[in-house]
Amino acid sequence: MTDTSSIRGDGQTWVAPLNGALRRVPVWPLYVIGAAWGGWLFWLAATGGLGVEPIEALEHRYGQLSLQLLVAGLAVTPLRKLLGINLMKFRRAIGVLTFFFLLAHFLVWAVLDVQTASAIWADILKRPYVTIGMAGFLMLIPLGLTSNNWSVRKLGGAAWRKLHKLVYPAAVLGALHFVWLAKGFQIEPLIYLGIIVGLLAIRFWPALGFGRR
Ligand code: HEM
Repeated sequence: MTDTSSIRGDGQTWVAPLNGALRRVPVWPLYVIGAAWGGWLFWLAATGGLGVEPIEALEHRYGQLSLQLLVAGLAVTPLRKLLGINLMKFRRAIGVLTFFFLLAHFLVWAVLDVQTASAIWADILKRPYVTIGMAGFLMLIPLGLTSNNWSVRKLGGAAWRKLHKLVYPAAVLGALHFVWLAKGFQIEPLIYLGIIVGLLAIRFWPALGFGRR
């Protein structure tokens, strides 16, 4: 097995104090900041603060936030295994907020943008980037619904962890959705895709000797 201690930051003097400080940070402000941020963006859109195309701008902001949070959630385990930085206690909040912004992204698109059930259905079937985004969203629904202690107890830890592996294909689909919808050559969606593929490679690359959590 490959020795990963040198890249893991073992013995680094800054990791232990950082983890100590992180242990003292409560999780609940993350939920408050996330909800407030979502509400603030909605308020800006409703009052002209997001430009002349507020619905499109809001859709984009919520979409970007969900992709950024997906990346943050996927980075938690590699950060712990590579650098020893422990953000595990924030992982559920990151996941819940990912789902919150994704639901908001979907609702802005469905309710404010497309508006009719037949057009929603037609878009999902006809536009590949919407089909891909929808597939990613559908995969994340069971994760959003089971991100609570009751569900972990009911399902059992092993089944819960297995179910939550859906985040890997969902993240890839989310990034592909962004690559696909971008007009012309754009570097930003490719960077997201690259980071997500990189984080998954770190996780599943047996040569690094990391567990598949
Ligand atoms: C894992 C799921 C998803 C992720 C991570 C995601 C993320 C994103 C991102 C990052 C953007 C681009 C924002 C920008 O240009 O600044 C975007 C745009 C968009 N997304 Fe999603 N999305 C997802 C699912 C969905 C779903 C389920 C729908 C609708 C069924 C959808 C519809 C759209 C639309 C219509 C746009 C704007 C396209 C345009 O500008 O022409 N997305 N999304």
